Amino acid sequence: MQIRVNLGEKISYNVYINELKQLKFDTKVVVLTNDLVAKLHLDILLEKIQAKELFVIKIQDGEEYKNLQTIEYIIDQMCHYQLDRKSILISFGGGVVSDMGGFVASIYQRGIEFINIPTTLLACVDASVGGKTGVNNRFGKNLIGSFYQPKAVYCESDFLKTLPSRELAAGMAEFIKMAAVFDDKMLDFLENLDKKRFLNGSLEDDILAQIIQKSIELKANVVSQDEKENGLRMLLNYGHTFAHVIENQTGYKKYLHGEAVAMGMHMANVLALRLGLLDLQECERIKKLLLEFNLPVDYLVLDVDEFYNAFFMDKKTHFKKINFILLDGLGKACIKNDISKEDVLETLKVFA
Ligand code: NAD
Ligand code: GLY
Repeated sequence: MQIRVNLGEKISYNVYINELKQLKFDTKVVVLTNDLVAKLHLDILLEKIQAKELFVIKIQDGEEYKNLQTIEYIIDQMCHYQLDRKSILISFGGGVVSDMGGFVASIYQRGIEFINIPTTLLACVDASVGGKTGVNNRFGKNLIGSFYQPKAVYCESDFLKTLPSRELAAGMAEFIKMAAVFDDKMLDFLENLDKKRFLNGSLEDDILAQIIQKSIELKANVVSQDEKENGLRMLLNYGHTFAHVIENQTGYKKYLHGEAVAMGMHMANVLALRLGLLDLQECERIKKLLLEFNLPVDYLVLDVDEFYNAFFMDKKTHFKKINFILLDGLGKACIKNDISKEDVLETLKVFA
């Protein structure tokens, strides 16, 4: 199965689902991964790669290492291996690895080609496609980065078989996001999905592939229309305005990204409810779905003003106007930049 991300002649690419056979390169290739993914799957991947020379760089595992220090470490290693402008980087891991791999590829010798081979559900359904790359700093999430598209993406459901339940659920959060924003029929599909089988990793391969396919089709469609996030693509940030504050406040350690997104979506829905964009039944429907996938929904806001002020570091805040992405009914979303401070504070108080 293949999905095309259409971005014009030069930078369009394919996302392949369960089609990874042999990859042949007449250049040097470096695989970027971490110890955990390497232990589980690297041998299988390396068997599939033929290159002039093949190198592996391993980075520390965790969102807390998604920073400029790690970028510098990767670049040092690439210089050490004398990788040149024709070399190709393959990111092999979850969203942390693909965000950093893409960023390094965009700046190493002013840009080299890269390929994503995602190994988490979250990276398959979202992070590996669309060319957002980058790292966090102490001021906030993904504040440093670039838009830089991969040459190809290979999603393989076999790699996902070793994911723990919590990681599967975190990936599902991004898929629920896609469904809630673009396609309410997907919510029916998720409500009928066997949650137990999904969470214990025994869902049939073809159903998992269907989930990945649907998500990538939705994302490819959005990215093709608005690569650099000037409008439509902002909708993919539903839940993220709140989630990024949660992740930053908790030091990128307590919650997985998908868990923060789940709480962020619920907070956004409570705000949408207050504004009359969602009704109580719709708000509760998403909350129930998140809970059924073992995702958290209630973040404890310790300091309402501090949480509010953190929104001003969000990349969607322009000229002090916070752009909130809210559901306007299920399967539809809108961008709101005129919400009163009082409405936002009152929403945050619900969680205090
Ligand atoms: P992650 O990359 O930290 O991976 C989660 C954990 O799973 C890690 O411990 C990892 O080592 C482990 N892991 C990876 N593959 C595994 C496997 N096959 N079996 C067992 N364990 C495995 O986190 P993530 O949830 O994949 O990605 C989150 C990141 O993605 C965040 O930094 C987020 O900002 C970013 N993101 C980016 C985009 C984008 O468009 N660029 C979109 C969504 C999220
Ligand atoms: N994950 C949001 C985006 O790619 O735009």
